[in-house]
Amino acid sequence: MRAIVNTQYGPPEVVKLMEIDKPVPKDNEVQIMVYATTVNRTDCGFRSAEYFISRFFSGLFRPKNKILGNEFAGEISATGKNVTTFHVGDKVFGYNDTKFGAHAEYMTMAEKDAITTMPDNLTFAEAAPICEGGHYALCDIRAAKVKSGQNVLINGASGAIGSAAVQLVKYLGAQVTAVCDTKNIELMKSLGADLVIDYTKQDFTKTDQSFDFIFDAVGKSSFAQCKKLLNKKGIYISTELGKNSANIFLALTTPVFGGRKVLFPIPTISKTDVIFLKELVETRRYKPLIDRKYSLEQIVEAYKYVEKGQKTGNVVITLTELIIKNTGS
Ligand SMILES: NC(=O)c1ccc[n+]([C@@H]2O[C@H](COP(=O)([O-])OP(=O)(O)OC[C@H]3O[C@@H](n4cnc5c(N)ncnc54)[C@H](OP(=O)(O)O)[C@@H]3O)[C@@H](O)[C@H]2O)c1
Repeated sequence: MRAIVNTQYGPPEVVKLMEIDKPVPKDNEVQIMVYATTVNRTDCGFRSAEYFISRFFSGLFRPKNKILGNEFAGEISATGKNVTTFHVGDKVFGYNDTKFGAHAEYMTMAEKDAITTMPDNLTFAEAAPICEGGHYALCDIRAAKVKSGQNVLINGASGAIGSAAVQLVKYLGAQVTAVCDTKNIELMKSLGADLVIDYTKQDFTKTDQSFDFIFDAVGKSSFAQCKKLLNKKGIYISTELGKNSANIFLALTTPVFGGRKVLFPIPTISKTDVIFLKELVETRRYKPLIDRKYSLEQIVEAYKYVEKGQKTGNVVITLTELIIKNTGS
């Protein structure tokens, strides 16, 4: 099969298109023919090992997972002998950031993990980016216990995580102020944002509104800047560690005092979460944004684009255009 292989940490050019053997599913695993995947910030983080600490998970000197790609949509092509819930030909999508493997024509993963059948209203290319931004947003919104009627600010609302967060917070019935640049204002309104702040014209930390939850989905602010905008029990979450990893320290200390606090939830994803996101997609309350599409051969270009930190939503890699069109799904 064709696969994008990375045997060392480094810039986008370390990944190479190669012909390798198809992965064989274990007894409890399914083999998936991948029709679409994404290049996202999680792939970039694991490929570059920019934060040294990540190497304790991904391999100290060289990558443990030689094929990246965590999101996928495709079709079950083989099953292990103990698999009961999936059959060859089932159309599926999901997420795997423990073994990765979606930057290839075939991947395997455990039947019980974050995989389910395709939503009935999206193509494979549209379904591939459901989970990465979606599950980070879901974890943080759940940690902040967002409720109907609350006032929430989302910075970096045009990214994969931010754009999922806008839609999920609206689904929960809260008010959303989205912070993005001029070109994405109308897009944010179309996702349901009640107010939009154009960060090229206004510093959101100087607004006179107050919020129950400030979610910095792009990690550009600090708790010190945002504290004054939070209500008495307001919560601040950033997707980045912050200067000198301050957000970790603040997440350990601020909850002790009982007022405004920082949280730093460890993201997780389960099959139940994937099914939940699928239900939101099918009821048209969540749809991942797609910025650009690339082929597997163009993956280095895709990485370079994603690493600019300026994508609007997601960057999709399509592997089998013909099959995507033929399914009509
Ligand atoms: N280390 C990891 O494994 C990992 C995994 C996932 C995510 N993350 C982190 O999570 C963050 C978000 O990821 P993502 O995939 O959602 O991001 P993304 O898709 O790369 O998008 C970032 C978005 O933020 C906007 N933006 C840039 N500068 C901004 C600013 N100063 N104020 C407001 N918006 C701004 C960009 O649009 P414009 O430039 O057009 O404004 C872009 O749409 C990133 O910081 C990423 O590093 C890390």
